[in-house]
Amino acid sequence: MKKILITGAAGGLGTILRHQLRGWVETLRLSDVSDLGECGPGEELIPADLTNFGAVMDIVEGVDGIVHLGGKSIEGTFDNILNTNIKGTYHIFEAARKHGGKRIMFASSNHAIGFHQRETRLDGDSPFRPDSLYGVSKCFGENLARYYFDKFAVESVSVRIGSCFAEPLDRRMLATWLSIDDFTRLVQCIFEAARVGATMIYGASNNREQWWDNSHAAFLGWTPRDSSEIFRAKIEAATPEPQWDDPAVRYQGGGFAKAGHFEDDPQ
Ligand SMILES: NC(=O)c1ccc[n+]([C@@H]2O[C@H](COP(=O)([O-])OP(=O)(O)OC[C@H]3O[C@@H](n4cnc5c(N)ncnc54)[C@H](O)[C@@H]3O)[C@@H](O)[C@H]2O)c1
Repeated sequence: MKKILITGAAGGLGTILRHQLRGWVETLRLSDVSDLGECGPGEELIPADLTNFGAVMDIVEGVDGIVHLGGKSIEGTFDNILNTNIKGTYHIFEAARKHGGKRIMFASSNHAIGFHQRETRLDGDSPFRPDSLYGVSKCFGENLARYYFDKFAVESVSVRIGSCFAEPLDRRMLATWLSIDDFTRLVQCIFEAARVGATMIYGASNNREQWWDNSHAAFLGWTPRDSSEIFRAKIEAATPEPQWDDPAVRYQGGGFAKAGHFEDDPQ
């Protein structure tokens, strides 16, 4: 892999990977609609709107792989989700096909399965249970990934990212936390594997509370090393005891499962 495209490169995870992956490949091509700042060594900056297919064709041309992070990262209006997450993700897969089948890491989300209860251990065969239109758009992306592999041999790994931040921010994230280093190693495993087909993997660190079983994706060779346990005392001291009848506690998607329909109750 000489050149990797990162979409959504100005966002939270994009900014992290831009830093973490420096020097890993010859060139990181960084793209976003938002300002990407100054171009650093080993970087190419190409602004693009994912809703514009011609622009997406341009950013995908000449890359060996794609880390697709760009889009709406929380719940939104249907039009917003449709344009950025559904059309935008379709444009990425279609451009990859037209340019000769680049491997894609698709940033899916725990909100694709957010209406499973937290006592349910999920694995590679567990059904989707989206908790929001945002979650539905991630189910679409994962199905698109499956379709593009079965029909066109475009390889991809859909990562159902839990909560990727420097530290967990609440009690739920003690289970869903994905450390920055574990996420970085996962991205590297995805592009260094000989073959990935169309795979889904849950993105959580080696936390004490485990909701997700990744044994179906063991061939990727990713073993998360970090644990949220070092933050437990701090989080528990700062946040109230969980109320087990609260949907935000009962369901894996937390507040997304509890929230009403976005367009009824704009947030
Ligand atoms: N951070 C997490 O813990 C987490 C958890 C689950 C899933 N994810 C997924 O990972 C990805 C990155 O998450 P993040 O936290 O960095 O989100 P973010 O909102 O910080 O970044 C998303 C980026 O996408 C860009 N973008 C939005 N619409 C665009 C468009 N039409 N064209 C081009 N760029 C556009 C935004 O400008 C932004 O920079 C998202 O797809 C999100 O759904 C993240």
